[in-house]
Parts: sequence; structure tokens; C-alpha cells
Amino acid sequence: MNNKTTRNLFLVFMVILVICGIAAVKLTNNDEVYQSNWDTINVRPIPIWYDQAKFGMGVYSVPAFANKSEPSAEWYWDTWKHDTDGGWTAEYHNRSFGADFTYQDFASMFTAHLFDANKWANLIEKSGAKYVVLTSKHHEGFPLWPSKQAPNWNSVDVGPKRDIVGELSTAIKNKGINMGLYYSLFEWFNPLYLEDKSTGKPPKTENYVDDIMIPQMKDIVNKYEPSIVWTDGEWEEDSDYWKSTEFLTWLFASKVGDKVVVNDRWGKDCRGKNGGFYTGGDRMNPGHLMPHKFENCATISTSWGYNQNEDADTYQSVEKLITTLVETVSCGGNLLLNIGPTKEGVIVVAQQQSLLGIGEWLSINGEGIYSSVPWRVQNDSTSLWYTYNSDSQTLYAFMTGNWPTTNQIQLISPITNSKTAVQLLGYDGPSLSFNPLDNGGLNIKLPLLTPGKYPPHNVYTLKITNVK
Ligand SMILES: *[C@@H]1O[C@H](CO)[C@@H](O)[C@H](O)[C@H]1NC(C)=O
Ligand SMILES: *[C@@H]1O[C@H](CO)[C@@H](O)[C@H](O)[C@H]1NC(C)=O
Ligand SMILES: *[C@@H]1O[C@H](CO)[C@@H](O)[C@H](O)[C@H]1NC(C)=O
Repeated sequence: MNNKTTRNLFLVFMVILVICGIAAVKLTNNDEVYQSNWDTINVRPIPIWYDQAKFGMGVYSVPAFANKSEPSAEWYWDTWKHDTDGGWTAEYHNRSFGADFTYQDFASMFTAHLFDANKWANLIEKSGAKYVVLTSKHHEGFPLWPSKQAPNWNSVDVGPKRDIVGELSTAIKNKGINMGLYYSLFEWFNPLYLEDKSTGKPPKTENYVDDIMIPQMKDIVNKYEPSIVWTDGEWEEDSDYWKSTEFLTWLFASKVGDKVVVNDRWGKDCRGKNGGFYTGGDRMNPGHLMPHKFENCATISTSWGYNQNEDADTYQSVEKLITTLVETVSCGGNLLLNIGPTKEGVIVVAQQQSLLGIGEWLSINGEGIYSSVPWRVQNDSTSLWYTYNSDSQTLYAFMTGNWPTTNQIQLISPITNSKTAVQLLGYDGPSLSFNPLDNGGLNIKLPLLTPGKYPPHNVYTLKITNVK
């Protein structure tokens, strides 16, 4: 079999928009409601836990190399073999490992000897993420669980000799965090898939979809009971080819049927149209309200898989990551932020710092993120974003720009009344004074703070009650 030693873990923070009109559809009797066609599957409401979570997380790793023109290190095998980066990966490969060194030879170097699932779970918990999406198998086809369909090419038969999916699932669930699994439908170099693809459809016997893909997907669902099935690598074929509606009908009637959330990558006819939440083409941050629940799956630096060839300046600041979270949630999305652990199973310090920074910010400002819904206005400017909590009828305004030198900030959209109160999250002083503006809106006087008194990470949240 073909494959590569890659691991991919997504940590995501997500916000879920529940589509209320359809939320009344029965969630039970799944097998009756969700027949094997997109019309019935598309009306399935997204289980509410996903909308409330807003933030989640995602692992690649032995060569851990990519040059800048094709920055995704997890695509190493494809970039090398198909020479999509002007030969730099091939040059690096020949120079570092020798031209005779095959991709399969990387498997023994994938040791994960420092992988400690509980340590990861502790870090993820501290980041404030409410769900995790681990890459169970990427496009190289190397499963991180003992898959019968990939003998001698999975993390138990070779490399770490450990069930990474199982260990992490247990540790994450023990924290009360939702555990999801990413799964690549296609495999770049699987001979069975390549043969099927050349004929345009899977032949009746011995084919990739029936003999490898579907059994693997059912295996991970049955064994690990994921809360999310996050498919990818769907784009070469349509959903009929992948038998996606049949699989989803099975999934929704399975033991995870009531809580499982799925994305929209089920065939080249599906993104933005079919399935569960929409994902766009990665890094979906539309800047305006989306009518359908979406997930912004994004990277901390430029690569998804760990890339040793990245410099500090490709890593985004914590402030930038928080800003992306705020913008995404304001517009009705969840943020799924990727981390790329090393072949030893380590989450590098730079990525840990990002996660801890976001977690620190959320520990103060999370009340405006988790379980929020989009407000009637998403932003007053490119640096002032809103979310709303319907239960407490509280408006949250996030200042993502610099602290105003005037110590005043003007909000255009909120309509105040005599009971309106404004607080700065993380500030233990009194409510802030403000002046209502003639045409609605208000001018807020910010407290004068000494540096040590500022809430962390330069994204400030105003909590406004009794406001329309
Ligand atoms: C990356 O590509 C650039 C050309 O774009 C080249 O000059 C450089 O040597 C390459 N670096 C590595 C490490 O392959
Ligand atoms: C790498 O080595 C192979 C096999 O010798 C050769 O065909 C290829 O041109 C080399 N690629 C580069 C970029 O050096
Ligand atoms: C809201 O943010 C988006 C994206 O940054 C921007 O295009 C839009 O102009 C902003 N709206 C206002 C009212 O400034």
C-alpha cells in the first residue's frame, strides 16, 4: 500500500448557528428521516453542541518540509512526486534522504515517542477549544489507528506502534471535550483508487470505495464514536462515486447519530451545498453574516503539517488569531484552528504559546464567544465586531484594533435606553460611563488603565446590557 507518515490534528473553536426553522425536524427515527439523498440529509439540524462550541483544533510530520511556493508540508509526497513547487521538495529530498529513499521509508522515522495524549488534552483544555478534530488519515493514506484495510501502513503496524486515534480520543473525551475525526476520502497514490479513477467509476468488485474507504469510515465511527466526521479529499469525484449519502444515512442511524456533526466535503458537487456545516476552501472568514453554519478551518502559520522550514514571521500573533476567532463567530461561524505536531508527537512551543494565549483571552472574554449568536449587525467597522447572547440578552462588542488614544470609543449600531450598562471584561472597576448619540449609538469612555491592568492580548470586549 501507499501512504505516508503523517499525522494531523485539528483543534477547533467553533460557533454553531442553529437553523431554527429546521431544528424542529425529529432527531430520532434517523433512519426514517434521513434517506439516502441530499434533500433529506440537508434538512438535518446541526446538533446544537457544535454551534455553542465555537472553537476547535487539528497533525503531519516526518519530512516536515515545504518551500514557500507550496507551503503545506503535509503535501510533501504529492509536491515531490508531481513537482508542483518547481523541484524544491525533490531537491530537498535528494539532498536530505537520497534519491532512493521512498516515502514509505519515512514510516519507521515516525516514532511519536514523546506523544502523551493526556498532555495534549491538558493543553487543548487550556486553549479553551470545545472540540478537537484529529486527522485519522490524510491523503497519503496512513491511518493513525490499526486499520485492517491498510496492513503494514498504519500507526500500529509501523512507526509508533500505537493507536494514536484511540489514545487521543480517550484523553480528549475524559476532559469533556468533543472529539472529532478528519478522514481523507481519496488517497493520492492508492493503486486501487487510481485504477477506479481511470475508469470513471468504481468497478463492481475489488474497488477503493467499497473495500477501503467505507469500511475505514465505519471502523472509526464504531471504534471511536466521534462527535464530528470531517471528510476531505473529496474534490476529484462526485458524491455518487463516494457513496456519501449512503454513508451519511448509515452514520445518522448509528450510535453517534444524535450528536454527530458533519461538514460539506462529500464530493465535488457538495461544498457550500450539501451535508452539514460549510467549510469553503479553508480559512473561510467571510466578514459578513452567513445564512448557513460554517467553519473557518485555519492554520497558525502557513502550513497544516509541521514545517521545520518556517520562520517566526509566518506564525500569526495571538492577537491576530483572536481577531480571526471574533470575526468568524460574529458572522455565524466556528473557528477550527490547526496545530501540526512533530514526528515525535510534540506540539512545538510556538504553537503551544498560541493556544495558551487564546485560552487566556477566552478565560476572560469567552462569555461573549461561547453559545453566542450573531447579532443584527456584525460589525461597525473592520475593528469593531458584535456577538449576542440571547439567554442573557447581552450584547458583546469586541475592539480588535488598538486601544483608542482618546480613551473613547464610538459604537454606531446599539440603541441604548436609561437602563443600559456597559462593562469592560477583565476590568474590575465600575461600569463605564457613556453618552448616547442622537441617531442611536453611544460614545463610551474607557477607563484609564496602567499597563498591568489591561486585559491580555489587545482585543477588548465591551459587555452591554439593556440595549437594542
Ligand atoms: C526555496 O525556494 C527558493 C526559490 O523560491 C530557493 O531559493 C530556496 O533555496 C528554497 N529553499 C529550500 C530550503 O529548498
Ligand atoms: C532527484 O533524484 C532523482 C533520481 O536520481 C532525479 O531523477 C531527480 O532529477 C532529482 N531531482 C532533483 C531536483 O535533484
Ligand atoms: C465589516 O467588516 C468587513 C470585513 O472586514 C468589511 O468589509 C466591512 O466594510 C465592515 N463593515 C463596516 C460597516 O465597516
